[in-house]
Amino acid sequence: MSNDVIKIFDTTLRDGEQSPGASMNTEEKIQIALQLQKLGVDIIEAGFAAASPGDFDAIKRISEQMDKSTVCSLARCVEKDIKAAADSIALAKYRRIHVFLATSPIHMEYKLKMKPDEVIKKAVQSVQYAKTFTDDVEFSCEDAGRSDISFLKEVLDAVIKAGALTLNIPDTVGYCLPNEIGARIKELSDFVNDRAIISVHNHNDLGLAVANSLAAIENGARQVECTINGLGERAGNAALEEIVMAIKTRQDVFAPLYTNINTKEIYPTSKLVSLITGIEPQPNKAIVGKNAFAHESGIHQDGVLKNKETYEIIKPSDIGLDKNNLVLGKHSGRHAFKDRLQTLGYTLKDEEVNEAFEKFKILADQKKEIFDDDIRALVAEEITKIPQVFELVTLQLSDCNPGGVPNAAITIKHKDKLVTDAAIGNGTMDAVFKVIDRVCGVNGELKDYKVDAVSQGKDALAKVIVKVAFDNNKPIIGHGLNVDTMYATAQAYIGALNSYMSMK
Ligand code: KIV
Ligand code: ZN
Repeated sequence: MSNDVIKIFDTTLRDGEQSPGASMNTEEKIQIALQLQKLGVDIIEAGFAAASPGDFDAIKRISEQMDKSTVCSLARCVEKDIKAAADSIALAKYRRIHVFLATSPIHMEYKLKMKPDEVIKKAVQSVQYAKTFTDDVEFSCEDAGRSDISFLKEVLDAVIKAGALTLNIPDTVGYCLPNEIGARIKELSDFVNDRAIISVHNHNDLGLAVANSLAAIENGARQVECTINGLGERAGNAALEEIVMAIKTRQDVFAPLYTNINTKEIYPTSKLVSLITGIEPQPNKAIVGKNAFAHESGIHQDGVLKNKETYEIIKPSDIGLDKNNLVLGKHSGRHAFKDRLQTLGYTLKDEEVNEAFEKFKILADQKKEIFDDDIRALVAEEITKIPQVFELVTLQLSDCNPGGVPNAAITIKHKDKLVTDAAIGNGTMDAVFKVIDRVCGVNGELKDYKVDAVSQGKDALAKVIVKVAFDNNKPIIGHGLNVDTMYATAQAYIGALNSYMSMK
């Protein structure tokens, strides 16, 4: 393989999922993995198999469906973790086990309570054990950014001899500065030479994750670990889209280095991840933020009209952002709808197209103009659908006047039977949740609630995301999409309940 390719290792489904509030169900993870493969990601870290049966199952199902990207499963240096990781990816065409152990003084002394030589021994044993399942083994020195560099060299030397092919140097707490990372990676990559690939994994606690990743690449790293929209623990991980576009835009600096990413899939991927997680990138976020290509000031607008390159260093179309967005409406037929789906890059099965079209028609009756983002939201709902144990049929609300008694009457379909009931509450939303709990025989506690307009206009689709803990269990996310916010709220709550049921 060319030494000029920068391998993109995406960890949206593992480190990204560790973002507060970003947990996803299996169907959602599969759809993201398929999209990451389409984007051209070399390695998809699909999860941490030993974390829960749900994580294991998601990695297994992703493994069954990937035919281009390598599927990677994370494990601590613990036999049962490594075995779970190996089992979870057994069916993948290309598979990798990623084992990690901390190497910084603070982690070794307080967290691991291990001496440096014990750490080396454990790392070696773990890599050797992982190698019994697959040749492609990656080793990470957790908190490498704060580890002693001569100790790092000892660890790397030992794990290379044990068979690790990729050596990851994470800045786990986002502590390092670009010049420090650059110097560290240069020294380590000279030391490793071509015995293994050096990888970096930078967190964004000081807002430097992307800058640090680029410094590492300039100094010998040939794999970079990152996430879509920069999701991840605390302040997140390095954003994939920023690293890739920096390498592409600044070929004067990075050539002959390149990535295998099809940049036209960046915007659709970012959108899918934000629709599923409910975490929208901040408006001024580089590359994929809502304002990334908006020119507000008159001077800038004038410049762009005369020559786009005066103020635009990236063409929106390079990331798959089609500004000439054709608006559909109630008179648009199946053909136009299907055509638009294709232009937006969706390849859906016939029954999925049919279901999405049905939803599109209902929406077109309620909303005058349907934009690309509406279609993306409809499709995301459709492709990530899980079995509907409970299905919302109708919702009627009354009395939201101050001093009145808010009342919600609902009909829910369960096992082919329609159940109708009503409840009052402290506000309309409370009444809706109470009646759903009663009909479905659960006790849900609302932990988080978010509503966004999907596109524009007074009749915009409302996208509701709730986080609900049912019967004192772990909170689960549910999505709802409707022009009526309360209806979308009820859908989201029932969606979370269906996820809970499918996990049970
Ligand atoms: O940040 C980190 O150190 C990690 C490792 C598991 C690679 O996520
Ligand atoms: Zn991390």
